[in-house]
Amino acid sequence: MLRFAISLLLCFSTVAPFLTSIALAEMITCSGIVPMRYRNDKISITDFGAVGDGRTLNTKAFQAAIYRIQHLRRRGGTLLYIPPGVYVTASFNLTSHMTLYLARGAVIKATQDTSNWPLIAPLPSYGRGRELPGGRYMSFIHGDGVRDVIITGENGTIDGQGDVWWNMWRQRTLQFTRPNLIEFMNSRHIIISNVIFRNSPFWNIHPVYCSNVVVRYVTILAPADSPNTDGVDPDSSSHVCIEDSYISTGDDLVAVKSGWDEYGIVYGRRSSGITIRRITGSSPFAGIAVGSETSGGVENVFAENINLFNMGVGIHVKTNIGRGGIIRNITISDVYIENARKGIKISGNVGDHPDDGFNPNALPVVKGITIKNVWGVKVQQAGLIQGLRNSPFTGICLSNINLRGAELTGSRSPGWECSDVSGGSNQVSPGLCSELSSTASISSCSSHF
Ligand SMILES: *[C@@H]1O[C@H](CO)[C@@H](O)[C@H](O)[C@H]1NC(C)=O
Ligand SMILES: *[C@@H]1O[C@H](CO)[C@@H](O)[C@H](O)[C@H]1NC(C)=O
Ligand SMILES: *[C@@H]1O[C@H](CO)[C@@H](O)[C@H](O)[C@H]1NC(C)=O
Repeated sequence: MLRFAISLLLCFSTVAPFLTSIALAEMITCSGIVPMRYRNDKISITDFGAVGDGRTLNTKAFQAAIYRIQHLRRRGGTLLYIPPGVYVTASFNLTSHMTLYLARGAVIKATQDTSNWPLIAPLPSYGRGRELPGGRYMSFIHGDGVRDVIITGENGTIDGQGDVWWNMWRQRTLQFTRPNLIEFMNSRHIIISNVIFRNSPFWNIHPVYCSNVVVRYVTILAPADSPNTDGVDPDSSSHVCIEDSYISTGDDLVAVKSGWDEYGIVYGRRSSGITIRRITGSSPFAGIAVGSETSGGVENVFAENINLFNMGVGIHVKTNIGRGGIIRNITISDVYIENARKGIKISGNVGDHPDDGFNPNALPVVKGITIKNVWGVKVQQAGLIQGLRNSPFTGICLSNINLRGAELTGSRSPGWECSDVSGGSNQVSPGLCSELSSTASISSCSSHF
């Protein structure tokens, strides 16, 4: 495919320069955001006594290897090699200037003994654990205040063995908020690529208070009924790029967040410069989501070439009263949706509150959302766009959208429901509600950023 594109490019380059610029534009990737580093210094987890038999607990080996990387710093950093085999371990921390490299057939598996799982402080922008008050269980693989970290290899697997956690959630026996599979906090220059993530206890990949994060060529898998297993959740982070990945989980595939109600408003750290492209997947919840925790603000999000199958909602922008925060300049284009309850949902009354201390006058502001080139089949309802009476959503612009109803079940698509919104549209089928049907105002859409 690439070779074909290049030869096409070569043969047209002399006759049609405009074609080459189109071809080059299509090859834009995340790679410039974080430099890929080659590590001269390499160590193997087996040098530290790890046994990949699927039974031995290797926590000490992981801690010793990372201690060695941290305290015997080598120029250019160190690569920690995980050979083929199944390495069970408790959660562990990463350090700066390292590559965690999983060979083909290497599996890092979370222990199912959850009794001594480390607890850490709640995120200041959430004020408490997302699920339960108090602290939260540390992510399986954790990095706090690190930089220049790469998790990569030959598509080895990081397996959270989440079912013990999902069952505690179902049986209401959890004491604190479940662990993410991977979390980076206060970190920068992170690359996660060519790894398979399976069965996360909670959200899969959670960069929070980070900048310059690349997630590409990953596969993220969790059963459709696994609770809250979001794929990638950039949270109060900037310059995050997610591309060329397959994500099939029990919750939103990608959800851009920035803190929760009064805690997120005080912390005040936005998410911005988020790029999402060439993602395929399925989920009973949303494909591309903004929210619902957006109290620090979310801006400059660009998503394109998204293919969604068997979805709850294709595109979902969600916030709530008490949340505050500005959501602006969100562009989502070239989306294919097959079999979904709803194509597009933008709503101001979604998600719960951390406690009774939220300010009901803290209204979110939503403006400048462009959604274009969306093709959907078997979509039960085209869309629901509901702003807030005291904070109407503005600059909501939809163009070239065709969402077809569930012909196979014979039900008729109820089309769109809108309230407290303004904006414009062009070529939307089924026909959009009157609030958004003006084609004249579409030219002014970008002025709402
Ligand atoms: C791992 O990092 C967390 C959060 O920074 C810290 O509380 C914990 O003590 C660290 N654990 C180890 C074993 O270093
Ligand atoms: C790993 O998976 C990615 C994404 O699915 C794929 O593009 C890549 O070719 C695979 N790499 C190897 C070494 O198998
Ligand atoms: C809107 O966001 C895009 C990224 O999606 C960015 O390139 C552009 O500069 C932003 N526009 C404004 C006015 O901030």
